[in-house]
Amino acid sequence: MHIVHIAAEMAPVAKVGGLGDVVTGLGRAFQKRDHLVEVVLPKYDCMDYSRISNLRILNIDLNSYFDGHTFKNKIWVGTVEGLPVYFIEPHHPARFFWRGGIYGEKDDFKRFTYFSRAALEFVLQAGKRPDIIHCHDWHTSAVAPLYWDVYVPQGLDSARIAFTCHNFEYQGTDSPAALASCGLDPQQLHRPDRMQDNFVHNRINLLKGAIVFSNIVTTVSPTYAQEARNAEGGKGLHLTLMAQSHKFFGILNGIDTESWNPASDLLITHQYSAEDISGKAANKAALRSTLRLSGTALDLERPIHLPSPLAILSQGKLGNFRFHFCQVVPLVGVFRAIVTACHFLWWLWKQVGCITRLVPQKGVHLIRHAIFRTLELGGQFVLLGSSPIDHIQREFEGLAQQFNQHPHIRLVLKYDEALSHSIYAGADIFIIPSIFEPCGLTQMIAMRYGAIPVARKTGGLNDSVFDVDDEGIPLQTRNGFTFSGVHEKDLNHALDRALNYFVYRKEWWQDLVRKAMIMDFSWNSSASQYTELYERAIARARLMKR
Ligand code: ADP
Ligand code: GLC
Repeated sequence: MHIVHIAAEMAPVAKVGGLGDVVTGLGRAFQKRDHLVEVVLPKYDCMDYSRISNLRILNIDLNSYFDGHTFKNKIWVGTVEGLPVYFIEPHHPARFFWRGGIYGEKDDFKRFTYFSRAALEFVLQAGKRPDIIHCHDWHTSAVAPLYWDVYVPQGLDSARIAFTCHNFEYQGTDSPAALASCGLDPQQLHRPDRMQDNFVHNRINLLKGAIVFSNIVTTVSPTYAQEARNAEGGKGLHLTLMAQSHKFFGILNGIDTESWNPASDLLITHQYSAEDISGKAANKAALRSTLRLSGTALDLERPIHLPSPLAILSQGKLGNFRFHFCQVVPLVGVFRAIVTACHFLWWLWKQVGCITRLVPQKGVHLIRHAIFRTLELGGQFVLLGSSPIDHIQREFEGLAQQFNQHPHIRLVLKYDEALSHSIYAGADIFIIPSIFEPCGLTQMIAMRYGAIPVARKTGGLNDSVFDVDDEGIPLQTRNGFTFSGVHEKDLNHALDRALNYFVYRKEWWQDLVRKAMIMDFSWNSSASQYTELYERAIARARLMKR
């Protein structure tokens, strides 16, 4: 098969979240199965150009239509993670992809409908006749109606359109007139059974258009596909999905097990595998040293937290008793060694991590709570994340500032690929308390690195994290700690158990780590399911042509 992905993100060159990982991971999985896979992306100024090999300009003059005019586009080609990628650089006065970021511009609707049209024109003008054109999320949703309205009438109907919705929250809506910019006919499409927004009737909805006009519609986990069929999960598109349910499926994402592999990961200090997990402790020490957290050296010069049993004796409760050891006890002898050992035993072994976009979907209030709860129960917490929402970013910046010198908490509020690897490798426990989660990749990556997830039972988390105490689930499948509610006490129930088991069941925990690390979160099973859908759609098209 010849498959062309048209997308707004691709890891590692242009990645904001999991969409980028999926385009690369799914593409590579099909390439390994000997299919021809190509990707079309906008040529952003902010891409990581160091990860594109053999980048060169193609000798093609691509003219594409927008707002009643024809614009020239430069086409670049390069290789990303072994996949051929075409980058579209428009000669448009609005410099659509020269803005220093991928999303978040006022004219995002225009930018991405421009790209959708140009990408499709490129595929067809370059003489490509793919079997499948696979689009992702609202940014490239216009491809589906464009294909049927503009290109099929010209006899260019070799391809089937597959569409994957990674998140029903983001739909791409605008006035019907905005649709005309890319050459679609608002009068034809602004109808309840086509692209009229289900909530705001005088708007059109790109995501709905992709659902209606694609041959295959998928989302990224079976549970989320189910949730999307009700008003809350489908964010207003549930009736549209029900009407199209014959072609709507939930397929759990995988992760790229080659790029996420602790045995060969050069971004972590000590490589390790399920056969020998000892390297994990070394990575934890390295992470602590990088982030200036306590527990890496004999740092008795700093105030330390006493180990919990001593804290219980001296304070009558678990946790936060602070004691300046050096001020009271001479710095010599066996006693120091014993306390140092305690310090290590109790603090070296409990590292909680979280890597996420800080948006309401991710359960921001629960993340904030988990920081304090972890501290209360004698653990360390590392958060890596950033928010496109001003007040959330400011709130976490305030927290980061407050804990800047804290020995057990570090909040790093930026996007940092290398640090993310170190956190996966250094964390014992990884929290994902999402309010909803279409799939979620961080829980799978965390498990691959032996960090045990504490996750809310929703969407793809429900399909990949299974509670160690859930007797309804086969023992071999149980791999983490789950909870259902949205309140702090619900999270406590899972996080407290995880921290306790970690401390009191050391060997059991290590078995759990090994088990999590060898679970199969590769693209294999998902790619087989996509293959089946692609093949069925192609076969149906052939049948109809006869
Ligand atoms: P979403 O796509 O909703 O953000 P996913 O769990 O599907 O969530 O994917 C998130 C991806 O982005 C993972 O690969 C994760 O490691 C990465 N990621 C998220 N935030 C950051 C960050 N601040 N720095 C580095 N990587 C991040
Ligand atoms: C979206 C979802 C996330 C999913 C990712 C990749 O960003 O929020 O749950 O894992 O897409 O499909």
